[in-house]
Amino acid sequence: MAQDSSLPDFWDVRYQQGVTPWEGACEDEQMGRFVRALPSGSRVLLPGCGSASDVRWLVAAGLQVDAIDFSREAIQRAAAVLQDCPARLWQADFFALPAVPLYDLVFERAFLCALPPRLWEDYTHKMQQIIKPGGYLAGVFFLAEKPKGPPFGSSREALVQLFGPHFSLLECQPVDAALPVFSGQEFWMVWQRK
Ligand SMILES: C[S@@+](CC[C@H](N)C(=O)[O-])C[C@H]1O[C@@H](n2cnc3c(N)ncnc32)[C@H](O)[C@@H]1O
Repeated sequence: MAQDSSLPDFWDVRYQQGVTPWEGACEDEQMGRFVRALPSGSRVLLPGCGSASDVRWLVAAGLQVDAIDFSREAIQRAAAVLQDCPARLWQADFFALPAVPLYDLVFERAFLCALPPRLWEDYTHKMQQIIKPGGYLAGVFFLAEKPKGPPFGSSREALVQLFGPHFSLLECQPVDAALPVFSGQEFWMVWQRK
């Protein structure tokens, strides 16, 4: 199996072989409350959307949803489940998105932890470019001592150091229904773009 998670091939093979232990998560109470408090029509991006399990509930909450993934296999699965859904879905590399502050919210789930830590500065830089001032980077982060991945873990302190120059941490709470692959160390975090 491909071993470099910064490449689409790594993910394509896993989708083809059905090795997708990150799947099966759903909306929980705190994320639903946060999202429903946003103005209707707010623009949200799901980077590394996978098979799109978060798209429908975000659309149902009244948001305008863009979903991207660089894996062709992921996009095929997402397209199949989103046939009648008004979200925009396309195959793209997150790091190649235009540096335009389009988004009120970027919804994170199992994306940062999928990236080798050498790319985390680039992730932060891109988030800073595409989120409107006052907008949010919010979602589920893997706070664990796990330098080998994916999933690659981080700590709250390390994320504050990484995001702190451009984002303020507003919320950090354990997620109710955590997946076994994340061993109970998933946290709902809300960061506001300064
Ligand atoms: C662990 S999966 C999570 C998928 C989805 N967020 C979920 O929770 O089901 C990580 C996803 O990120 C995608 N990905 C990784 N690097 C990417 C990049 N640079 N641009 C776009 N997608 C990327 C992979 O193809 C994969 O579908």
